[in-house]
Amino acid sequence: MGWKIDSLPDQSGKTCIVTGANVGIGFATVNYLAAKGANVILACRNVDKGIAALADIRKATPSADVTVEKLDLASLASVRSFADTVLARYQGLDVLINNAGVALPPPGKTEDGFEIQFGTNVLGHFALTGLLLPLLSKTPGARIVTLSSTAHWFAKIDFDNLNAERNYDKTKAYGQSKLADLMFAYELQRRLEKTGSTTMSLAVHPGVAMSELFRYSAGLNFFLGFLSQSIHEGAWPTLMAAVDPSLKGGEFIGPGGFLTIKGEPTVQRSSDRSHDPAVASRLWDVAQTLTGVKYL
Ligand SMILES: NC(=O)c1ccc[n+]([C@@H]2O[C@H](COP(=O)([O-])OP(=O)(O)OC[C@H]3O[C@@H](n4cnc5c(N)ncnc54)[C@H](OP(=O)(O)O)[C@@H]3O)[C@@H](O)[C@H]2O)c1
Repeated sequence: MGWKIDSLPDQSGKTCIVTGANVGIGFATVNYLAAKGANVILACRNVDKGIAALADIRKATPSADVTVEKLDLASLASVRSFADTVLARYQGLDVLINNAGVALPPPGKTEDGFEIQFGTNVLGHFALTGLLLPLLSKTPGARIVTLSSTAHWFAKIDFDNLNAERNYDKTKAYGQSKLADLMFAYELQRRLEKTGSTTMSLAVHPGVAMSELFRYSAGLNFFLGFLSQSIHEGAWPTLMAAVDPSLKGGEFIGPGGFLTIKGEPTVQRSSDRSHDPAVASRLWDVAQTLTGVKYL
């Protein structure tokens, strides 16, 4: 038996940020949080798409307390500018949901020259989390939820090819970025614990949800259509990680049904590689060097 969406409690008084919130799992996540009274900031790279999403959210919840702010995770300048805005405007931050992601794109670089999947999915969120940590730290019981994937099972961290220095295999690069997201979430929890912080870091995978994620791969999209659940069901693991009081920092949440593709969320295991603290610590150092954001 997994966690039930009906048990999502009232979220009034909470401030939450969801990255990549204009479509897909992020959009569904905001819908649930806003319906329960949370103040939610939709952190979107395209503000017009974000405003269109606001209109849809308000159709479902006319009283929704939601705003859009520009955040392009493929630009460290944009990440810094977003964090500056949030730090200046808000007194606390209860939940940061590192949701945005790009999958299987053609070769490309972020504004700062990083491979697009590693730069967006990993480094952008690493920098964002570090810059917002002072606000999270002063909010009792704050949580950071980072989206990984079952793709992490087939991945490994290749320090010589993090940024496609040797070659670019879009599937391997996506898997590596999602393993790195998971290892980041675990390492963040270890480092928070060492400082005695009450802020918790959890990781999530949504199973398979029919979103726009595989927009660059029409064949895969067609195939996954037969297996997948809705974006709303895909948001349940994120929501459980964000609110369930029985969870501990460092846990990994995903659908509890067949092959963890769909179903009510439960606590799950992850690959042995994801638990390697030496690799996680080295990855943390690399992320600090590449982003220039140093914390914990
Ligand atoms: N769907 C699945 O089955 C599945 C499975 C495993 C893991 N996941 C993970 O779940 C998360 C959500 O994905 P999804 O399925 O909801 O995909 P989606 O529908 O494609 O949504 C991805 C979101 O990320 C945003 N984004 C992409 N690049 C960005 C950037 N540079 N800066 C800011 N935002 C950016 C997108 O914005 P635009 O609309 O502007 O492109 C969009 O809002 C991802 O981390 C993904 O890896 C999904």
